[in-house]
Amino acid sequence: MCFIYYEQVFHDDFIQKDTYPMFETIDNAFLETCQEKMAANKDPSHDWGHVKDVARAAFHMARYAGIELQPLLLAAISHDTYSGIDRVNHHLLSGAWVRENLPFTLHGEWTETVALCCEQHRASYRGEYTSIYQEAFASADRGMLKMDSINEIVKRSYNFSYARTGNHEQAVDQAAYHMPEKYGHNGYAKWPELYRKVFATELIALKDSADSMTVDRVNQILGVSK
Ligand SMILES: [Fe+2]
Ligand SMILES: [Fe+2]
Repeated sequence: MCFIYYEQVFHDDFIQKDTYPMFETIDNAFLETCQEKMAANKDPSHDWGHVKDVARAAFHMARYAGIELQPLLLAAISHDTYSGIDRVNHHLLSGAWVRENLPFTLHGEWTETVALCCEQHRASYRGEYTSIYQEAFASADRGMLKMDSINEIVKRSYNFSYARTGNHEQAVDQAAYHMPEKYGHNGYAKWPELYRKVFATELIALKDSADSMTVDRVNQILGVSK
């Protein structure tokens, strides 16, 4: 059985072993199978970069909640392996796949926890989380929130509209309209309670920026001079 250290898997430097010595071993065969499945899945917005983003956020969630990191990492590498194949059911498909495959690895004790993390990870999930692990993983899947995250969200929204209409003015209008509607203080976006605690300051900044969004501000964020 081959062991791979978490820090080698993700080729990243955000684990600070001195402050949080929770770098983990991950079963090499399971990891490689998930990487192959991600490659075959062919979903550009849920590639290995997304896995790394989720892993990074999972590290913060685990530390804040005082829970084990390992099941969150196992969920990070397995939860979106079907997103390009069947977007609507990908959370159920990955959960079922984990139940069938994880028991035969080093991590068999975490099988049900990881499978439930997969099944409950989506923003559209409206049930209760089975445990803090599922809430932490759903939170991690939202990624890290920064004080200026509104800029990325505006660009994403603009690109989404522009890809559909090919009309710049319309896409800008749509982005300006969409921000308060979804991310404002009375917006419909929902975040897990844990996420709201970990990113409390950043969420207020996001909501304030969304509520004060204008067409001019969208153009400014896009770097379009008027
Ligand atoms: Fe997903
Ligand atoms: Fe995801």
